[in-house]
Amino acid sequence: MNASSPSPAQNQASTATLYGGVTNRRVTVRDLAAAKQRGEKWSMLTAYDALTAGVFDEAGTPVLLVGDSAGNCHLGYETTVPVTMDQMVMLSAAVVRGTKRSMIVADLPFGSYQESPAQAMHNAARLMKEAGVGAVKLEGGERSARSIELLVEAGIPVMAHIGLTPQSVHAFGGYPVQGRGDEAAHQLLRDAKAVQQAGAFAVVLEAVPAELAAQVTEQLAIPTVGIGGGPDTDAQVLVWTDMAGMTAGRVPKFVKQYADLRAVLADAARAFAEDVRGGAFPAEEHSFH
Ligand code: KIV
Repeated sequence: MNASSPSPAQNQASTATLYGGVTNRRVTVRDLAAAKQRGEKWSMLTAYDALTAGVFDEAGTPVLLVGDSAGNCHLGYETTVPVTMDQMVMLSAAVVRGTKRSMIVADLPFGSYQESPAQAMHNAARLMKEAGVGAVKLEGGERSARSIELLVEAGIPVMAHIGLTPQSVHAFGGYPVQGRGDEAAHQLLRDAKAVQQAGAFAVVLEAVPAELAAQVTEQLAIPTVGIGGGPDTDAQVLVWTDMAGMTAGRVPKFVKQYADLRAVLADAARAFAEDVRGGAFPAEEHSFH
């Protein structure tokens, strides 16, 4: 084996489970295809920084998405629309640095791929070269198929995203459930088949009726990743700040909160302030002499 050959570990799709099965290298698209074959469901979480990504990597989350949800969940914007390529490169590079085992997928933000397949190629290459991610994600079904094809031909793994595509929030007039009614359901199926045909290795189905997501999942050979798509998709993704209870105010109906981190952090900040005000911190053990 020469220095540039893949190691035997890189060469094989894991036949063990994704959780705990792949410990000495990153999860690959082949592992995810094998998981679909054996019917193993998997989770994906968003991550926007090295510290949090490292926690999820250690916890065995097979795929982390540097989502452009960074716009509203991390950078303080109202929507994902203002997020730039430079921001995505910076956040994605941090997530790659903080992890060893998860596959890292980065979003192409609004305006970075819709102009042409050539624009998509240019910006996807930036995420691969400058940030070191393993795959990119872009929104759109039939309308994005040509760009997906070009990226895949160039060796870039692509995750597609159909149904409710948040970059179109202004066109949708909010975040309504997609795929309701016969015509919309048929369009969603056409979109799903178009991205598979174009070479996407997985497809996110956001905010679609559970029955339709189940139908798409059954008809596709590639894994479907649901967010508000019911229980029958191959994988599930949540925005980490929603999942861990960091989000202020209302969260979407499809979110389950697994912790109350916002309250835990606020309590810690209040206790620190109280100790400082009352002189209890720093104590003798925190002081140098
Ligand atoms: O940006 C994001 O976090 C996403 C998920 C909602 C799938 O696209």
